[in-house]
Amino acid sequence: MRTLPIGVFDSGLGGLTVVKELAAALPGESLVYVGDTARCPYGPREADEVRRFVLEIGEFLARQPVKLIVIACNTATAAGLALAQRVFDVPVVGVIEPGARAAVKATVNRSVGVIGTVGTVESGAYSRAVRALDAGVTVFSLATPRFVDVVEAGLRMGPGTLEDWLSSTTEVFIRPSFYEMARDYLNPLKRNGIDTLVLGCTHFPLLATAIQQVVGSGVRLISSAEETAREVAATLDARDQLAEPGGDVTRRYVTTGDVGEFRKLGSRVLRERIPAAEHVPVAALEALGDPDHAPASYAEGHAAGEDA
Ligand code: DGL
Repeated sequence: MRTLPIGVFDSGLGGLTVVKELAAALPGESLVYVGDTARCPYGPREADEVRRFVLEIGEFLARQPVKLIVIACNTATAAGLALAQRVFDVPVVGVIEPGARAAVKATVNRSVGVIGTVGTVESGAYSRAVRALDAGVTVFSLATPRFVDVVEAGLRMGPGTLEDWLSSTTEVFIRPSFYEMARDYLNPLKRNGIDTLVLGCTHFPLLATAIQQVVGSGVRLISSAEETAREVAATLDARDQLAEPGGDVTRRYVTTGDVGEFRKLGSRVLRERIPAAEHVPVAALEALGDPDHAPASYAEGHAAGEDA
C-alpha cells in the first residue's frame, strides 16, 4: 500500500497548483493526476452533474489503484466529497475544509472573504466549513467565474512574445483589463472589512500576485493547496501509509482533452516539464460511472504520452 500513488483530480489544469504543493511536501510519493479538460469548466454546471464526474474519475483512480484520492477542485469538493468518501474504500480529501482551516487560523478580525466558482459559492460549503471551526467568523462569499477564464486564456498565450515571457515569470499572463474587473469583483468584499481572502478555486493561486495588488497588503490570501498537502500527509501518516524514503517516484498525468496542450500548459502551471501525458476519452470515464459497462482497459489507463 505504501508504494501506491496518490490520485489527484480537477476539472483541468487548476488542480496542478495542488500537485505542486503535494510534490513539495511529499517528494517521496508517486502521483496520478487526472485533468478533465474536455469537460472544464465545472463551475457553471449543476451539482448532480459534477457529482457524477466525481464518481467517474474517482472510480478511474481507485482502479489504478491509488492509496488516497485528492479532489483538487473546490467545485467538485463542494458537490461530491461526502459521496466520494462513502463510495470509495480509500480516504478522499477535498480542498474546502483545509482552506477553511487555514482561513480561520489566519483571520484576526474574524471577517473572511471567499471567492470561487458559481457552483462552490452557491453550495455554501465554505461558510459551513468555516462556521464548523469557529462560529464567530463572518464569511462573505462571492462567485468570480471570469477569473477562471482569465487563467485559462492567460495560460494559452503563445510562445515568443512578451506574453510568453510574462507567462514564464508569473505563470499566467494577465491583461491590464484584469485589474479593472478584479476591482469590480473585490472592492465590495474589501468594503466588508475582510482581513483574509480564500482563493476558493484551484485556478486562482495563479492569479495571486494580481489579486494581492487589488485587495492590498492588509488582506491575507489563502490558497488551500498547502493545507491540503498537510492533511494528505497527516492522513497517510495516521494510516502508516507514507512512502518509504528512497523508493521509486512516478508522476503520471492523464487528461480527457488534448495531450499536447495539457503538457504545454500544465508544465507552465507546475513550472516543471511534464514529459508525457495520457489520454482517457470522456466516454471511457462515463462508462466507469456505470459499473456494469466499465471497460477494464481504461481503468488501467491508456498510455499515449510522447516526448517533447
Ligand atoms: N478548479 C476548479 C475549482 O477549484 C474551477 C474551475 C472550473 O470551473 O472547472 O473549483
